[in-house]
Formats: sequence, C-alpha cells, structure tokens
Amino acid sequence: ESSETTKLKKMYNDAAHLFNHILVNTSMGEQALDYLHKRGLDDAMIEEFNLGYAPSKELLEAFFKEKGLDHQLLRKSGLFVEMQDGSFKERFQNRVLFPIRDPRGETIAFSGRLLLKDDKKPKYLNSPETVIFNKRKVLFNFDKAKSKIRQYKSAILFEGFMDVLAAYRAGVENGLASMGTSLTNEQIYLLERITDRLDICYDGDDPGQHATARALTLLEPLTKMKLGVLHIPEKMDPDEYVKKYGEEKFKQLAQSSHETVIAFYMRYYEQERNLANEADQLAYLADILQQLAKVQSPVERDIYLNQLAKRFGIEKINLESQLQTYVNKLG
Ligand code: GTP
Ligand code: MN
Ligand code: MN
Ligand code: MN
Ligand code: MN
Repeated sequence: ESSETTKLKKMYNDAAHLFNHILVNTSMGEQALDYLHKRGLDDAMIEEFNLGYAPSKELLEAFFKEKGLDHQLLRKSGLFVEMQDGSFKERFQNRVLFPIRDPRGETIAFSGRLLLKDDKKPKYLNSPETVIFNKRKVLFNFDKAKSKIRQYKSAILFEGFMDVLAAYRAGVENGLASMGTSLTNEQIYLLERITDRLDICYDGDDPGQHATARALTLLEPLTKMKLGVLHIPEKMDPDEYVKKYGEEKFKQLAQSSHETVIAFYMRYYEQERNLANEADQLAYLADILQQLAKVQSPVERDIYLNQLAKRFGIEKINLESQLQTYVNKLG
C-alpha cells in the first residue's frame, strides 16, 4: 500500500471521527442528532456506523493543516471543492454523513444527506472518485455484513443507506447498498466469493420496481448466484416499512416473503396490464413465458405453467409449445 493511500485513508478516518464528534457532542450537531433520532436511529446505531454531521462551518482545512498535511494531499482527498481563486471550500456542508468503508472497515468516502430539503441541491452527495475510492468496487456495509452473509449464505441488496440501517436494527444484518448505481462486475465478484444467493429489496414504489426488473435483467447473464426479490408492500421503502410496522414485522417479511424471479415478474407485469382484456392477457403471457424460458429447472417451469394454465384456462400443452419457441430463440 502506497504512503499516499495510507495517508488518504487516515484523513478519511480522522474526518469521520471529527464529524461523528460534532454530531454527538456539540451544539452544531444538535439538529442533525435530533433528525437521526426521529428517523429511528439510536445512539448505539449512530456509533456503530460512525455517522456524522458536516455543519456549514469550515473545519477540515485547519484540522488537516494542523496535522501537517500539505495542500496537494488535501486536493487529492476529494473532501474539498476548489474555488476559482484556488481556495478550498468543504464539499459536505449541512449534511448527515454516512462513512463508506472498504471491506476491511476503513473509511474511504462519504455519502452526505441534506438535513433540510433544498430543491437546488441533490438529496445525497457522494465523495468523488479518488485514489482510495472507486464507487464501482464499493458496497455500503460490506465490511460489517460479510460475516453474516457467509453465515446465512445470502445477501440482500437495498436501494438506500437508510434502508440498510433500518434492516440492520431489525436484526437483518446481511444488507448492502451500492452507491446509487446498478451493480457492477466488480461488486458481483465481491459477492460471489461469499454467497450463492442474492435478494433484491429495492423500494416498493414504481421506480424501485422498475429498477428491480433492470437489476434482474442485468444480473441473470452475469452471475450464478440464485436471485430473488423481497417485496415491500404499499409502495414503501424498507426504512418506511420499519417505521410503520416495526422491526419485528420487517424481520418476518425478510424471512418469509421471498419471491422467485418469476413470481416477481408475474406481479410486476400484472401491474402494467389489464388482464380482463384479451390483448393484454396475451402480452402478459408472452412476457412471462419469455422469462420462464430462462429458467433451467424443469420443476420450476412446471409449477408456473400449471399456475398459468389454471388461471387463464389454457391447455398446458399450448403454453409448453409457446415456451419452447422462446427457449429456441434464446439459443
Ligand atoms: P431517504 O430520503 O433518506 O430515506 O433516502 P432514500 O434512500 O429513501 O432515497 P431514494 O429512495 O430517493 O434513493 C435511493 C438511493 O439513491 C439513495 O440512498 C442514494 O444512494 C441514491 N440517491 C438518491 N438521491 C440522490 C441524489 O440526489 N444524488 C445521488 N448521487 N444519489 C441519490
Ligand atoms: Mn466515534
Ligand atoms: Mn427510491
Ligand atoms: Mn427510498
Ligand atoms: Mn427512504
């Protein structure tokens, strides 16, 4: 590990502790601390994830210079935005900070959430790419979750950091989130080394459901992991679900509401169609059979063919023959 890498990691770890201190122990952090408490995070969770608050005050430049760090290193850290005149302004201001850690638990970046709604600014702001932070390679909470993932032989992928935290406090500790993007080959590789099962638990709202379909389409040809979906009802995200129904109910849902990929598509495509209409029925059946063509297990295929035959009053042999044409097309 180069000395620059070591120094940058030290900077992030020091900054994380400074922002955590500001959140927990100072009047500058009071409002943010109150916000996190209202969102259901207690002091133990805040400590566990080393959450912080970056106030509107400029703190870091003096903090690092006092430690003897040079201008060039500060520039490379990505913690500052460089102004026209060459001066530094802190990148994260008025934001609750989620430290992003590498698999060994060292902080290598932040994601900052606006404390107060501001339509001119993004709700979440991430650190830029640096020598130590490549967002394609990072999964939020991988450092903590990896032993649980090995133990349960499964991982759960959430949309947001708050969802990972909500699941964690409900006792579902094998949760991860990407940095607001679809999974990359590097992230899939990281997961495949420790689990053979991955469940997608994106938001229950329409964008979350569309993102689930996209994630499955992307993942299927790339991985041998068994994929599934955890569906959150009432268009909520996991964090909202925990808030409304409590930790115990979420834990039950996580343990008992797995959908197979086909079950997901059956529900998903049904939302987009009016199945009282025959043209929609045909389109629906075509969609499902095309997904079913990708399923290898003859038993799993049979389960769904039986369901479809019964539901739509179609001879199973006709469904099988249409399925076969889709299988042939896949080559
Ligand atoms: P909360 O409002 O804090 O509960 O956030 P959320 O996680 O529910 O947010 P949402 O469902 O809107 O988005 C899911 C994830 O997308 C977030 O956790 C972020 O990783 C990412 N995201 C959302 N908004 C932004 C944004 O404005 N900029 C960037 N870069 N990422 C975002
Ligand atoms: Mn601390
Ligand atoms: Mn969302
Ligand atoms: Mn959400
Ligand atoms: Mn949310």
